[in-house]
Amino acid sequence: MGPEIHELEKKLTDYVGVRYTVTCASGTDALLLTLLAWGIGKGDAVFTTPFTFIATSEVISLLGATPIFVDIDPETYNIVPELLDIAIKKTIKEGKWNPKAVLAVDLFGLPADYDKIKQVATKYNIKVLEDAAQSFGGAYKGSRVGNFGDAAGTSFFPAKPLGCYGDGGAVFTNDSQLYEKLKSIRVHGQGMNNYDSIRIGVNSRLDTIQTAILLAKLSVFDEELELRNEVAKRYTNGLEGTVVTPRIPEGCLSAWAQYSVLAKDSKEREQLTMNLKEKGIRTAIYYQKPLHLQQVYKEMGYKKGDFIVAEDISNRIFSLPMYPYLSDDKIKRIIDAIKSLK
Ligand SMILES: Cc1ncc(COP(=O)(O)O)c(C=O)c1O
Repeated sequence: MGPEIHELEKKLTDYVGVRYTVTCASGTDALLLTLLAWGIGKGDAVFTTPFTFIATSEVISLLGATPIFVDIDPETYNIVPELLDIAIKKTIKEGKWNPKAVLAVDLFGLPADYDKIKQVATKYNIKVLEDAAQSFGGAYKGSRVGNFGDAAGTSFFPAKPLGCYGDGGAVFTNDSQLYEKLKSIRVHGQGMNNYDSIRIGVNSRLDTIQTAILLAKLSVFDEELELRNEVAKRYTNGLEGTVVTPRIPEGCLSAWAQYSVLAKDSKEREQLTMNLKEKGIRTAIYYQKPLHLQQVYKEMGYKKGDFIVAEDISNRIFSLPMYPYLSDDKIKRIIDAIKSLK
């Protein structure tokens, strides 16, 4: 908790355009701290997408609450607000769990459809938590990522758009009460001082050394964001008609944590990724298995076919190299390699 922490929090607050930022030890903790501050626990339902990293639903389960999955849009891969409405209605009718929040993910850097998500959340009086782990720097209808929910959590893991050299995260909010609680929870539920405990918290300080790295990287972040968008544009122009390229809805800016494309089917994906590997081009698959089919959620009784879009996309998606300093030559080589195989 060196002075750099406060300097970074002030700079992030200004950059995002919110009132408060609380840094913490990871993107996972950013979500956990917020749900903890909201008192979410046993008997509560939190609605989220099955097409995300396990951290998103893990924090819900860790607190004893139940993640309820809602299928994704086939073009943006983000949660579908209309299906969210149906899932909340169904949960209320069943009466087993209390709907408390929606945890929407900005997958691959693209913000979810927050206007519609907020409409649904307001209708049922539940909170919106934005999982902005992958989308720091992105924007939706003129506002930066971090502004769209009651709170947003981001990650500074090295592979993220704004990455440090280890783990780190932050929560953004305009809610002063939440801000005060978060500052206490990240240091063991501290009250007046270290030895005054007023609530259950965790140890989730951001290291000052990581903060120093983030301060340096934040100063070139806008430039890097522009470069990432340039790389994405080059990929899309070169690959259109070969594989399904990402669609960015009007009014949105992606932070391009990943540039992901769709093959025709899993067989074609395997051929493409194998052939790219042989040419020295590494690809990754986010995510091979949607969360509702993971062993950890077996007891919830989900089965294949429950979320057909998430399942279809996980069979076909793969991500290409994406970083701000990817050269034109390398991009061309990757595009040519994919084209030659089609
Ligand atoms: C969507 C999503 N949520 C949460 C996290 C967790 O972030 P961290 O690794 O910083 O704990 C990640 C990280 O990969 C993520 O991709």
